[in-house]
Amino acid sequence: MTIELNNPSLLQTQAFINGQWVDANSGETFPVFNPANGEEIAQVANCVQEETAAAIAVAKKAMESWKEQPAKVRSELLEKWYDLVMANQEDLAKIMTMEQGKVLAESRGEVAYGASYIKWFSEEAKRIYGDVIQGTPDRRGIVIKQPVGVVGAITPWNFPNAMITRKVAPALAAGCSIVLKPGSETPLSALALAELAKQAGIPDGVFNVVAGRRSSLIGGELTSNPDVAKVTFTGSTPVGKTLMKQCAETVKRTSMELGGNAPVIIFDDADLDIAINGSLLSKFRNSGQTCICTNRVLVQEGIYDEFVKRFSAAVNEFNFGDGLDDASTHGPVVSANAVSDIDDIVKRSVEKGATVVTGGKPREGAGFFYEPTILTNVDDTMSVFREEIFGPVAPIFKFKTEEEAINMANDTEFGLAAYFYSDNLSRVWRVAEKIDYGMVGVNETMISSELIPFGGVKESGQGREGSKYGLDDYLEIKYVCMGGMARNHGA
Ligand code: SIN
Repeated sequence: MTIELNNPSLLQTQAFINGQWVDANSGETFPVFNPANGEEIAQVANCVQEETAAAIAVAKKAMESWKEQPAKVRSELLEKWYDLVMANQEDLAKIMTMEQGKVLAESRGEVAYGASYIKWFSEEAKRIYGDVIQGTPDRRGIVIKQPVGVVGAITPWNFPNAMITRKVAPALAAGCSIVLKPGSETPLSALALAELAKQAGIPDGVFNVVAGRRSSLIGGELTSNPDVAKVTFTGSTPVGKTLMKQCAETVKRTSMELGGNAPVIIFDDADLDIAINGSLLSKFRNSGQTCICTNRVLVQEGIYDEFVKRFSAAVNEFNFGDGLDDASTHGPVVSANAVSDIDDIVKRSVEKGATVVTGGKPREGAGFFYEPTILTNVDDTMSVFREEIFGPVAPIFKFKTEEEAINMANDTEFGLAAYFYSDNLSRVWRVAEKIDYGMVGVNETMISSELIPFGGVKESGQGREGSKYGLDDYLEIKYVCMGGMARNHGA
């Protein structure tokens, strides 16, 4: 099966190194599948450590002149890239739906969301400021910001576009060069972005892409090569920990956007219509496959039965199907393995006493689908409370008091995003400050945008992406001490 596009130049299947499309040295390729039907849609160059090392070497060379470019030049090139991404939104969305599964409307939204990071950092490129410290009469401390160096980026399959642009755009804006390893399930979106960066005039070697199925070989090179100064990763906490350990050997900077276990807490003083709608959006976005998707729904006892009834009725209206079909409200999950992992979490919870209100099993037939599922009679000993489900499964927990809800929310090693619904202002402040998360949505679950600092605490990672803070992760602070100011030459 092929992907028919208005702009066929976007369908690239080789590695992108030094502005050239090249095969893997071995000539090997790996298949990319459409999760809606399991059909192969492309074969992509299967890179390993050799190609990664070559990309790092050219990135190092290319950075010498890239970092010397005036900020305005870097800004204008990023702006051109943004324009091209938006001009090709429909094709990029189609590629995304075919390799990742999300419905077309969601893919179009992600392309625009991803592009917003390019636009934002094209503007921020011009706003890299230093400081002057005036502590003593005869000297001044000058603080300047410089690009950290070559960046290694490893991105996931769940957002095949936006997780790339929110790393590549700030790196390029700061004057760094970058070697990207995209998720092996979704390399085509990454390669299409690289083609558009090339067409925008981003210089050869500044942005390189090596895709491959043996992720640990590419990751191993990115984390051990002394010419890489920083590694940025979005993905699971166990893989993030491994990468951090590997980076320790050469003391690389790291940014880690890792797993989550987001609660949405519905207090009995909440507007129930708004709370149900927000919880549905957050739970089922990308069929439950985002790091900030609601993982646990916590509902106060007085409104619990009403909430479950109305939430279930809405879920029963969903239509999970091929993302290219306009009638589908939600797409498949990414792979057969994802289906069995979700099923395993559900089965283990049911064995411990959870009740299946709806769904509860893989869907039969073509593609990788799990029935949208609601579980009640769940408690904190169950896998649905402890583990990141990453699928369309909503366990609904009951709580009595505010204190109990806060304790339940915080009873996890994760700390990425949390949400709660309440119309009581003092409660809103109390709870927002007491829950241990990097991002908190109050009466709102759609919290992401290029304007805000995206990132987590605890084992959900470190560093922030987007916003005015997003460039900091790609800049080094240098202090220059300017002395001898008391000397008076020639007076
Ligand atoms: C993620 O799943 O990590 C990204 C979600 C988002 O950017 O909203």
